[in-house]
Amino acid sequence: MISKALQKARDFEKKYLPYTHSEQPAFHLTGGIGWINDPNGFAPYKGEYHLFFQYYPYDTKWGPMHWGHVKTRDFIHWERLPAALAPDTEYDRGGCFSGSAVEMPDGRHLLMYTGVRNIRRRNGKIQAFQTQCVAIGDGVDYEKHPLNPVIDARQLPEGGSTEDFRDPKVWREGEYYYAAIGNRCADGSGTILIYRSADALNWEYVNVLSACHNQYGRMWECPDVFELDGKDVLLVSPQEMAAIGLEFHPGNANVCLIGHVDRESFHLMRDRVQAIDYGLDFYAPQTLLTEDGRRVMIAWMQNWETASCKPQELRFMGQMTLPRELSIRGGRLYQNPVRELEKFRGVKIDYYNVLVNGETSLRGISGRCIDMTITVRPGNESSPYKWFRLYVARDGEHFTLIRFRPDTSTIKVDRTHSGFPHDIVNTREFPARTHNGELKLRVIMDRYSLELFVNDGESAASFVLYTPVEATAVSFSSDGAVLVDVEKYDLEMN
Ligand code: FRU
Repeated sequence: MISKALQKARDFEKKYLPYTHSEQPAFHLTGGIGWINDPNGFAPYKGEYHLFFQYYPYDTKWGPMHWGHVKTRDFIHWERLPAALAPDTEYDRGGCFSGSAVEMPDGRHLLMYTGVRNIRRRNGKIQAFQTQCVAIGDGVDYEKHPLNPVIDARQLPEGGSTEDFRDPKVWREGEYYYAAIGNRCADGSGTILIYRSADALNWEYVNVLSACHNQYGRMWECPDVFELDGKDVLLVSPQEMAAIGLEFHPGNANVCLIGHVDRESFHLMRDRVQAIDYGLDFYAPQTLLTEDGRRVMIAWMQNWETASCKPQELRFMGQMTLPRELSIRGGRLYQNPVRELEKFRGVKIDYYNVLVNGETSLRGISGRCIDMTITVRPGNESSPYKWFRLYVARDGEHFTLIRFRPDTSTIKVDRTHSGFPHDIVNTREFPARTHNGELKLRVIMDRYSLELFVNDGESAASFVLYTPVEATAVSFSSDGAVLVDVEKYDLEMN
């Protein structure tokens, strides 16, 4: 049955979605209209990849959460489907918060999400209750199950919070469904709890997969757990993080824990903890496994701190990153744009061994929807360069700057002059090293974003840019001699 609230959202989409095409990014997903945040339910279903997202169609601000819905075959073209969930029951009236999806053995599509109920206490304060709910459907329409909520306070371990209990990531393993869910334990800090069920309706608590103990932020939101290249990986998005060196920025951050999950206890033994993305705009990533065995991740390309900051005229708020292929090399998480992107490469322009010493631009190297790789190496062995800068989305007034310093082994990205119409944090600096003296920067630019991949995916950094699309110039500068290779493709969507 389609509730009134869901029908209203679907009617609204029908009326407004077709009119917004030219304002959209060329190849990054938005809600088309209104607000989006976290990716949800990113999973294969009947030979296609479905993606849902936190969604409020009626405004460009966060509001009572619906689930928007799209699907794709190539991770670049997304087909819009009608909104899948609306907050329309007693247990989710405060919102259908984040969650995930899996194909059931009988071919039905299972969505698992957090239902939020807000209750006003006698002292006037609002208390939220978060429980886990399921909806089952056919890839377009979903029924919320009469047994909802399927996980609530009764299945919480002692000391667990009923207010911060959300974002189930569900998967199937053997005969069971498993779910990893964010919670807060007695010390107030984040934990990721594991639950198990034979039928996706009756769930039992298994164990704490990992606990933060106030070391990496407080509440851990949006967990994802998977095997990758012989390791077990947990991705979390902590709230209230304090900065740690240049690895972790403060606020709503993102953390990857790599190690080994003991299959008896379901506890993660950590080998390494690192940031997933070093940019200003990245949160709540979710992954899936493709049919050909690739672990692909997508994330909200936005940060909560700046989620109210955009040019007034834009009729959408929130974009997803490009889907990225993950791997582990030397114990570290690597990520690169899905290989499908290469099919959209148009004209190629390349240069080899160009000497840069001071400011340079190169004929044909410009554009705003581009896939450009720049390799930098010292131009004079006896006199090392001090810094190398790449300017993009440039015109007389605007630019965004990517600067590498070999002496500090850091990259700094600065969008202060990108035209962002708000006084917010605009720079991020993070660790980056050379390999045999070389640094490789792959820059993917769309109308409203820049994603940087360093050294074939050793690190990544995502940034929203609201620079006028006419600002297409690219230039280079250095203090000291460098030799540069450039390979640039226009990205052409059809
Ligand atoms: C993370 C988050 C989730 C929650 C959702 C609500 O961005 O706070 O924890 O489910 O957003 O929209």
